[in-house]
Amino acid sequence: MFAVYAESFSADDPLSGLVVGERPEPTVPDGWTTVTVKAASLNHHDLWSLRGVGLKDEALPMILGCDAAGHDEDGNEVVVHAVVSDPAWTGDETLDPRRSLLSERHQGTFAAQVTVPRANVIAKPASLSFEEAACLPTAWLTAYRMLFTQGDLKAGDTVLVQGAGGGVATALITLARAGGLRVLVTSRAEAKRAKALELGAHEAFESGARLPVKVDAVMETVGRATWSHSVRALRPGGSIVISGTTSGPKVDDAELTRIFFLQLRVIGSTMGTRAELSNLMNLLDATGARPLIDRTMPMEQAADGFAVMAAGEVFGKIVLTR
Ligand SMILES: NC(=O)c1ccc[n+]([C@@H]2O[C@H](COP(=O)([O-])OP(=O)(O)OC[C@H]3O[C@@H](n4cnc5c(N)ncnc54)[C@H](OP(=O)(O)O)[C@@H]3O)[C@@H](O)[C@H]2O)c1
Repeated sequence: MFAVYAESFSADDPLSGLVVGERPEPTVPDGWTTVTVKAASLNHHDLWSLRGVGLKDEALPMILGCDAAGHDEDGNEVVVHAVVSDPAWTGDETLDPRRSLLSERHQGTFAAQVTVPRANVIAKPASLSFEEAACLPTAWLTAYRMLFTQGDLKAGDTVLVQGAGGGVATALITLARAGGLRVLVTSRAEAKRAKALELGAHEAFESGARLPVKVDAVMETVGRATWSHSVRALRPGGSIVISGTTSGPKVDDAELTRIFFLQLRVIGSTMGTRAELSNLMNLLDATGARPLIDRTMPMEQAADGFAVMAAGEVFGKIVLTR
């Protein structure tokens, strides 16, 4: 079947291991089912995979992609939850030590079909297009959990989103506004700061700029480049919720003194549960908020989408369609 997959790894030239071609039809284990993919979206995770981060040599070739929306075996419109937990696991799927994401242990979604546990298939609200729904299972679900579960933020709170242009960051801006928060953002690029304001941010600043107020929480996905600024942006007792380290995980100064003295909280966050994915879809259905799609392209042109993401030229999500 048609598939976009990783054939090899390269830290410096990740696109060199990307193949747009054919892979065998999936076999379907007991309790699993097949979804015919209509749309999938690109995540930084897919670039990490091509760099050999989170994926082992013996897993190659591996079909990339965590997110998909499409049709189940009965023709229903569905969204795929990307977190695959152990069948014996109960409770929050993201806390299963044996969990994996699609495209890590099991083949991913950039293909004609993807095979997943039955429980990972969720009905798509009719109000969301396949393209919009395909943005949700990774970036948008991660943003939802960061703000409302791990960050425990409420209407009226003030949040800082670092690195305004990313898939997770644009989701954070839209969801924070939908939840009644005051939203400050940073970006390295003037054009992205302007777009962030259009998207709903109240104020936008250059990366590292001094802010006019201390915030209740910072949403971190950038890592090394913004960590110190994030710690310094918080009011006493405030929280950093971190789900990524795009600029690298090794910080020059962890700001430990400030963290204990101001009694700050540092909270990790990864993906989200099936229940949170349903709640996210209900929120979009009810509020009319929608994922910002930077561009949509046929899955055959996936390499172009990867190149744009690697160059950091994205504002919103890149969607691949079938
Ligand atoms: N834990 C999880 O479950 C989970 C889920 C989804 C994503 N993630 C992680 O979260 C991160 C973002 O993912 P994404 O898909 O949103 O990626 P993306 O679309 O490529 O966004 C990356 C953003 O990071 C900012 N950035 C990159 N390098 C920077 C630097 N040196 N200084 C300042 N800002 C920088 C950029 O913001 P500006 O250009 O606007 O400054 C860019 O918009 C990735 O590391 C990904 O692996 C984790």
